[in-house]
Amino acid sequence: MKQLSLHIIILISCLSSCNQPTTKVVVQSQVGNSVTSTAIWVAPDTSTLGNSDTDRLIKYGRELISNTSLYLGPHGKVMNITNGMNCQNCHLDAGTKPFGNNYAAVAATYPKYRGRSGSIESIYKRVNDCVQRSLNGTALDTSSQEMQAVKAYIEWLGKDVPKGTSPKGTGLLDLAYLDQPADPEKGKIVYASRCETCHWPNGEGKFNANNGSYQYPPLWGAHSYNIGAGLYRISRFAGYVKSNMPFGTSYEHPQLTDEEAWNVAAYVNSQPRPGININKDWPKIEAKPDDYPFGPYADTFSERQHKYGPFLPIAEYKKQNKHL
Ligand code: HEC
Ligand code: HEC
Repeated sequence: MKQLSLHIIILISCLSSCNQPTTKVVVQSQVGNSVTSTAIWVAPDTSTLGNSDTDRLIKYGRELISNTSLYLGPHGKVMNITNGMNCQNCHLDAGTKPFGNNYAAVAATYPKYRGRSGSIESIYKRVNDCVQRSLNGTALDTSSQEMQAVKAYIEWLGKDVPKGTSPKGTGLLDLAYLDQPADPEKGKIVYASRCETCHWPNGEGKFNANNGSYQYPPLWGAHSYNIGAGLYRISRFAGYVKSNMPFGTSYEHPQLTDEEAWNVAAYVNSQPRPGININKDWPKIEAKPDDYPFGPYADTFSERQHKYGPFLPIAEYKKQNKHL
C-alpha cells in the first residue's frame, strides 16, 4: 500500500502593509517515496521488507553496511579483508541520512563514467573502491553473497529515484571555498575542543572488543582510510564534517562554521595514514579535482595549494582555460 500524505503550507505575507494579510496555500504531495518538488530525499521504509529471498538479501546488505567489521573486519566472521571500520561510519544511518554521504543517487546514476578511474564504473566497482580505499582492504568478489547483498540494498534504497537524477540531500554538502588556505594549526584547535573526546587525541578512535567494531572510528593512523580515499580530499572531509560532526549534527543544525570544517579537515588530513598506489588514478590529469593533493597537474599550482587551497584561483584558472 502506498501512502499518500499531504503537506499544507500556509504562507502569510504582508505586502505593502500588514492590514490586509494575504493567505496563500501551497499543496505538496508525496506518494510513497517519489517526492515531488524539491523535498529532501527520504529512504524507503525498511518495515516494508519481508522474508522473500530478495528481501532477505537486501536486509543482509543493510546489515553489512551497518556492521561491516563484524563480517569483514580483522576478526570478521565471513572474511578478514577490511580495516575494522564500518561503511556506516561514513555513510551514516546505513546510507540514508540527508547529506550524510547517503546512497540516494547510486541506483539512478550508475553505471557512470568516473574521472578517478577514467572508466565507466558499475556499482560493484564503486563499492570496491571504498573497500580498497576507505576500508583500506581487499576487493570483494563480485559474485560473493556479500557483494550481491550490498548491491541489492543500495539498489533498493534508490529504487524510487528517477534514472539519471540526484535528489536533494544526496551525498555530501559542497562547502564554498575559503579565500585563504585551510589552516591545519587552527584545525588542531578545533580538533582538541570538538572532536578528540570521541576520536581521541591520537586520532585512533575507540575500538569495542566486545562487538569487534569501533565505537568511535579512527580518523588517522594504521586503521584509518588510506590516501586514495575520498575523505582524503579536504572538500569531501569538510563537507562530511559540516553536516554530521560532532556526532548527532544534521545539515539543518551544523555546529561548525565552514572555516572550522575546512581547518579541521586540513589538520586531520595532515596526519599519517596508510598509503595505496594511486599512479593509475585520474589518467586524464586535467580532470583532477581542485583539491586533489597529488600531481602532476594540467595547471601550474603546487601540490600544497591543491591540498589546502586557496582553491578559488585554481577554479578561476580552469574556467579561463576551458580546454583544461
Ligand atoms: C572513510 C569513509 C568511508 C567509508 C568507511 C566508506 N565510504 Fe563509501 N564513500 C566515501 C566517500 C567520501 C565517498 C564519495 C562521496 C562524494 O564525493 O560525494 C563515497 C562514495 C561511495 C559510493 C558512491 C556514492 C555515489 O553517490 O556516487 C558508494 C556506492 C560507496 N561509497 C559505498 C561504500 C561501501 C559499500 C562501503 C563499505 C564497504 C563504504 N562506501 C565505506 C567514504 C567512505
Ligand atoms: C560524540 C562523539 C563524537 C564527536 C565529538 C565527533 N565524532 Fe566523528 N564520529 C563519531 C561516531 C560515533 C562516528 C561513526 C558514526 C557511525 O558509525 O554512525 C564518527 C565518524 C566520523 C568520521 C567518518 C569516519 C572516520 O573515522 O573517518 C569523521 C571523518 C569524523 N567522525 C570526524 C569528526 C570530526 C572532525 C569531529 C570534530 C569536529 C568529530 N568527528 C567529532 C563520534 C564523534
